[in-house]
This record gives sequence, C-alpha cells and structure tokens, in this order.
Amino acid sequence: MTTNAPKPAPRTATLDDIPALTTLWQETGLYRPYNPPEWDVRFALESKEATLFVWEDNSDNIIGSVMAGHDGHRGWVYYMAVTPSLQKSGLGRRLMEVGENWLRDQGVWRMQLMVRADNHAMQDFYRHLGYRACDVTVMQKDINTPPADR
Ligand SMILES: CC(C)(COP(=O)(O)OP(=O)(O)OC[C@H]1O[C@@H](n2cnc3c(N)ncnc32)[C@H](O)[C@@H]1OP(=O)(O)O)[C@@H](O)C(=O)NCCC(=O)NCCS
Repeated sequence: MTTNAPKPAPRTATLDDIPALTTLWQETGLYRPYNPPEWDVRFALESKEATLFVWEDNSDNIIGSVMAGHDGHRGWVYYMAVTPSLQKSGLGRRLMEVGENWLRDQGVWRMQLMVRADNHAMQDFYRHLGYRACDVTVMQKDINTPPADR
C-alpha cells in the first residue's frame, strides 16, 4: 500500500529488489510458492535476452514491474504488476510500453504473453492494449528439478 507519487520512469531491477518484488507479486496474485522470485529475477537479470524493470514511487517503494524477454523468435512479458492502490492510473500501460520498447530494440517484432484462461479481467486489459487471443494450446514439460526443490 502506498500513497506516494510514482517516479517519472522505471529502472532496471537489481537483486536487492527481490524482497520488495516478492511483496508486489504476492499482493497482485502473481506469486507462486513453487516458483521462487529470486530464481526468476536472477535468471532474467543474468540473461542477455531478458530484463526486468521496476517502477518506484518517490519514497523508493516498488509499485510496478514488468519482465521482458525473447526466445530468438517472439517477445514475451511476465510479471506485469501494479500495486493495487495505484492500478487504473496509467502505470500498467506505460510498463507495457517499456517492455515492448525494450523488446523492439532487441529486434523483436511480435509479442506474445500468457494469461490464465479464467482470468477474464486481464484478457480484457491486454485486448484493450491491442493484443489478440490465439487459438493455441500451451504445453509444458519439466526438464530439470524445479528451483524450489534444489
Ligand atoms: C494488469 C495491471 C498491471 C494493469 O495495470 P494498471 O496500472 O491498472 O493499468 P492502466 O491503468 O495503465 O490501464 C491501461 C488501460 O487499460 C485499461 N484497463 C485496465 N484494467 C483493465 C481491465 N481489467 N479490463 C479492461 N481494460 C482495463 C485502462 O482503463 C486503461 O485504458 P486507457 O489507457 O485507454 O485509458 C494490473 O491490473 C495488475 O497488476 N493486475 C494484477 C497482476 C496481473 O494479473 N498481471 C497480469 C498477469 S497475466
């Protein structure tokens, strides 16, 4: 919960942001206990193909995040989050633009993202920003021990 105004622009995250990011992702429903934030943050920040932006308020509280990366073909965003008290004030749109701009600079021309099938509010949000639903089935397979179990 914050009442401070947002800073003018986001910055690239650092490993020191992990506790605050964990709180943000918990309060926005993105946290999954089997998917430790520290592993995802480290993986993104150590990769040339990915990055993680955080938005702070004037008191240095983290109020938003977006992870962007590409797989050599498509650009993806993860961890799109704005702290509940500041949602619907334009930060989410600007965070998506920051992620899209970073990916465009990497040579990406088409974005993809995953939204849970029952998360209609987020599907509406992304549609509003110009995204379209695709008739595909996302499939998964674990090829290593999950980080939480190592
Ligand atoms: C998704 C999220 C980051 C959006 O952040 P936000 O700061 O509220 O978004 P904005 O205020 O910038 O909204 C951008 C535009 O989308 C519209 N919008 C916002 N939420 C919407 C919704 N649920 N349905 C339709 N449109 C929506 C806004 O009206 C705004 O329109 P405009 O720019 O044309 O005036 C925020 O809702 C959130 O953190 N959700 C929880 C985490 C989550 O589920 N993330 C996505 C995982 S797939």
